[in-house]
Amino acid sequence: MKRKYITHTKQIPYLIVENYFKDEEVDNMLSEIKLFDENELFCFQPGLKMEEGHKHNTQLGLDKLYAIRQASYTLTKLDEIFHDKKLVKKLEDMHWFYDSWGLTNYDSSFVTKFVEDDYYHEHRDCSVISWMYWLWEEPKSFTGGDVRLTDYNIDVPVKRNQLMIFPSSIRHSVNKIENGKGRYCVVRFLHILPANSKVESLEGATIGKGNG
Ligand SMILES: [Fe+2]
Repeated sequence: MKRKYITHTKQIPYLIVENYFKDEEVDNMLSEIKLFDENELFCFQPGLKMEEGHKHNTQLGLDKLYAIRQASYTLTKLDEIFHDKKLVKKLEDMHWFYDSWGLTNYDSSFVTKFVEDDYYHEHRDCSVISWMYWLWEEPKSFTGGDVRLTDYNIDVPVKRNQLMIFPSSIRHSVNKIENGKGRYCVVRFLHILPANSKVESLEGATIGKGNG
């Protein structure tokens, strides 16, 4: 199916792209992610300055997992997004905020997994621009797990092979998964770091309600 770009500008500027990757590419990413899962690499990671119970899911950072980025199919695909000129043009045409895309100089990537009863209350990501890309095994076996931009009461239904790009500082949440198997989300944060930054402390960083 063809890519469909949906720009949202009314309250805050964010972009949805449906059918971002080809079916074969989605399958390949899913194969890699399922391998992580089969090897039980996903684990709970508390968010920065978050109260206990603020999030209930598991995740796996990809940056330390691969010494060579190109060894990961998923990381390679994320890099393609970063260099997607059509996508960047859409963002820059949508709002000046996305001029910062070209100023980012560091990224961090991870995969989240949500299963039954998992959720993530509202939070801000500690970066400049955030991406979320959803995929799961078909047929879809869960309900819930949609995203809400909580400051603006905007609901974003998640779809398989859908990419969302938004300002990291917009508070967002993931509503509870009602049943079914894994809902995976590949996340990338784009950062702008000053020289001599200690990047170690930034990886997977998120901040909770009231801390931003
Ligand atoms: Fe987030």
